[in-house]
Amino acid sequence: MNVKELKQKFTELFGAQSKPRLFCAPARVNLIGEHTDYNGGHVFPCALSFNTYVAAAKRTDSKIRLYSLNFEKMGLIETDTQHLAFDKKQDWANYPLGVFWAMQQRGLALGGADLLFWGDVPLGAGLSSSASIELATAVTLNTLFDLNVPQTELAKIGQEAENKFVGMNCGIMDQFASAMGKKNHAILLDCNTLKYEYAPLDLKGVSILICNTNKPHNLIESKYNERRAQSEHALKELQSKLKIHALGELSEEEFEANKELIADPVERKRAKHAVYENQRTLQAEQALKRGDLAQFGQFMNASHVSLRDDYEVTGAELDAMAEAAWKQPGVLGARMTGGGFGGCVVALVKNENIEVFKQNVATEYEAKTGYKPDFYIASAEDGAREIID
Ligand code: GLA
Repeated sequence: MNVKELKQKFTELFGAQSKPRLFCAPARVNLIGEHTDYNGGHVFPCALSFNTYVAAAKRTDSKIRLYSLNFEKMGLIETDTQHLAFDKKQDWANYPLGVFWAMQQRGLALGGADLLFWGDVPLGAGLSSSASIELATAVTLNTLFDLNVPQTELAKIGQEAENKFVGMNCGIMDQFASAMGKKNHAILLDCNTLKYEYAPLDLKGVSILICNTNKPHNLIESKYNERRAQSEHALKELQSKLKIHALGELSEEEFEANKELIADPVERKRAKHAVYENQRTLQAEQALKRGDLAQFGQFMNASHVSLRDDYEVTGAELDAMAEAAWKQPGVLGARMTGGGFGGCVVALVKNENIEVFKQNVATEYEAKTGYKPDFYIASAEDGAREIID
């Protein structure tokens, strides 16, 4: 599908009376800093070259018409700006409708619109296909209705749509990365303050390889919300003595000195991950700045182990993939990325070893799990935007 075809499809579906404008928003991969965003810590994602594309035009009435070329069986979904409500039957369309809703909640004036979606983001792979739909919608509405909302606020609107409309209690990372991505850079984001800086991804003969377990993951139905609740409860217990707002404010030493305040050993492990992972993310970014990719890779491995043993969000498929990756020549590091419970592993692999890596990992992983994996080489790209052709 290219831009011209998308416009043609729009005309076939919605008629020739309005000329659509085109928008896109990327998926993301997180290099390190997992399950730290809602714990007030740091994350280090970059936006990818996989995108959700939208062809869209304003209407003169209040109707909203949505169609996705990825979910053609769902057909045309019609509602209007006065009747926005979550409905399981609307399936994928809850994400864009959630963005309409979240914008309205902020008092932004929206009219009706026709939107046609198409995306090349692998679905259910933990690469934030949903955030890319949300941000593609947000940048579309922001532009069509001249709302002048800054990109960082569009990220918050996307998160609100997901938290309050869809009912998945995610943090800000995915929407922020999709909104604020920058070509050839990763984003170090402090999720406590939303201060961020871009870090050049100067990888010198090394590639970021994404290894899809093809074990579908569905965070709405997973233990994601439970993990979040456990971390929040652990924080409450620490707050009986410590003046902190988030686990991300603690150093490892402070955590060790106070961890007994957390009564439940399981919750103590969850909090330990949040604290250590946040510190690891800061150190990993420093290692990247120094050009020390070997050290960066070690932090990635440690991150996976902590997500496996302390946060317990990996599962058999992600562990099998990471373990197969760790053994290969030319691998600097590998870890699960995203929410977990299926989805993808991200690995740093020397370019000359990539082909052998794929063969070996695929053979071992498939033998262990029965799933055939997919591999993608990631390039860091720009965030949500209008496509001017
Ligand atoms: C999902 C959520 C993010 C983040 C990650 C885990 O992708 O949407 O907010 O919590 O999981 O790091």
